[in-house]
Amino acid sequence: MAAATATHPSVISMINQDHAKFRSLWDEYRGPNMNGEMKQKIGWALIRGVAMHSSCEEEVMYPELRKRLGDEAAEHLLGLEGHQKLKTLLSELDSMTVEKHGEAAYTAKLSEAMKVLYHHMEEEEHQFWPQFEALPGVDADLLSHMGKKFETARAHAVTRPHPWAPNKPPLNVVANMMTAPLDGAADMWRFAGHPPQ
Ligand SMILES: [Fe+2]
Ligand SMILES: [Fe+2]
Repeated sequence: MAAATATHPSVISMINQDHAKFRSLWDEYRGPNMNGEMKQKIGWALIRGVAMHSSCEEEVMYPELRKRLGDEAAEHLLGLEGHQKLKTLLSELDSMTVEKHGEAAYTAKLSEAMKVLYHHMEEEEHQFWPQFEALPGVDADLLSHMGKKFETARAHAVTRPHPWAPNKPPLNVVANMMTAPLDGAADMWRFAGHPPQ
């Protein structure tokens, strides 16, 4: 019955799809025939993508995970090995450019952030999501409902890293809604009117 009413993709498949996108952007960055301008565009796309992804996880996935798996799990994902560390590194990267700081320095900072991101994604995919999915009450319906909420959260997600902004409900939702338009305006400039989706 539950599966029959699940009409939206599961939140976990949506999250893991974002993760796959980040991995392929980072592969592309390190691929052959890349010039500084191409690397800059990928750096910016990763900053934007990870900021939106973290914002949506913090609104939809982590509160539910906290409720069902406990504070320790949620705080670990938010903390100094997870989102907080990522936001700090990506906001440092956000203040750099390939042109001004040089490819080597830009790549070194991005590599540092990607190392944290890869470790974090591994933990989510191989440790926290399987634990969450195995809990009683977590069924296809709930995951589908959360998937719908995850998509809605994208519409007001921040698109730049904000290490000092609130990361838990309800304050994060308010802060995101206030900050997203400013980030959006800055991104329109950065991506010449066509920010990546
Ligand atoms: Fe995360
Ligand atoms: Fe994630």
